[in-house]
Amino acid sequence: MSKMIVFDTPVESYPRLGADLGIDLRVKRDDLLPAPAGGNKVRKCASIFRDLVPNGVDTIITHGGAQSNHARIVAMESARRGLACVLVLHGDTNTQFGGNLLLSRLVGARIVTTSHSALWETVKRCEAELLSQGATPFIVPGGGHCLEGAQAYADAVEELAGQLQSDWTPDFIVHASGTGATQAGLLAGIERRQWQTVVVGISVGRVSARGKPIVEKCYHVLRARLGLKATARPVLFRDDWLCGGYEAFDAGILNTIADAAGSEGLLLDPTYTGKAFTGLRQLARSGFIPARSKVLFWHTGGLLNLVAAHALSAVAGNEPRNVASNG
Ligand SMILES: Cc1ncc(COP(=O)(O)O)c(C=O)c1O
Repeated sequence: MSKMIVFDTPVESYPRLGADLGIDLRVKRDDLLPAPAGGNKVRKCASIFRDLVPNGVDTIITHGGAQSNHARIVAMESARRGLACVLVLHGDTNTQFGGNLLLSRLVGARIVTTSHSALWETVKRCEAELLSQGATPFIVPGGGHCLEGAQAYADAVEELAGQLQSDWTPDFIVHASGTGATQAGLLAGIERRQWQTVVVGISVGRVSARGKPIVEKCYHVLRARLGLKATARPVLFRDDWLCGGYEAFDAGILNTIADAAGSEGLLLDPTYTGKAFTGLRQLARSGFIPARSKVLFWHTGGLLNLVAAHALSAVAGNEPRNVASNG
């Protein structure tokens, strides 16, 4: 098995945000993974490019939404390796020019826009075109949703374990869950460590009926790959903070973002981590996460989704803010 890739992203205490919720809060800063604007896709793609992409490939194809972090990281990694890159994106690629899309274009990715329902068909058409032109393309799964991407997060739990003092093992890990590979990896990593940590994935787009079985499947395949034989952990995939779907958000999410930034400088975004942290706050306030619990918020990035969200100008005032108790 390949050697673990270690990034040692910081684990930081957030005493004011934690005190507001009555918990001992730490944050694993995967928003600081080493690529511009970081994020969990850096960790996943490092493993994917090392272990999945075959030698001899000259063009990478992947797919996602117009503001996909995964697409940006694949475009950047391709550029760094001197590979061509085709991004098949759904959504509005004409008016949403900034953020991830801008960076992807800047590093030379070819953008092919299509509808959500025609994504895979368009990916296969691009692949066929490239093959007919004599290129050697490789399709990286959308969102980095594959075993290599999931294993990167099982290994990230080992990284975390090496950073924590023996008296601080998380009772809960809360994070944004999309395609589910991050959550599947965290669950496998927790099981491998034999921690009793409860992992809560806060869905950023999928209803539980769709998202949870996908996490479960990925977790069980990864368990088999890693030879894990302890009791499988329950998959807690919460869809309570969807606000109607992917990229949708409401005043509660904006409040969370403003409070986290204003109280302790923690930057969240409306598509991913703002939803996840809103979930964490409400789980703590409802007692699902008991008082004084050790809670690790796994920050998965999203800075470019934050700066691309114009609606946020309404909450980004000039006045200092105190931690609010709503949201
Ligand atoms: C910033 C951010 N957080 C979380 C996620 C969810 O990760 P996963 O797809 O592994 O569930 C994504 C996926 O796009 C993301 O970009």
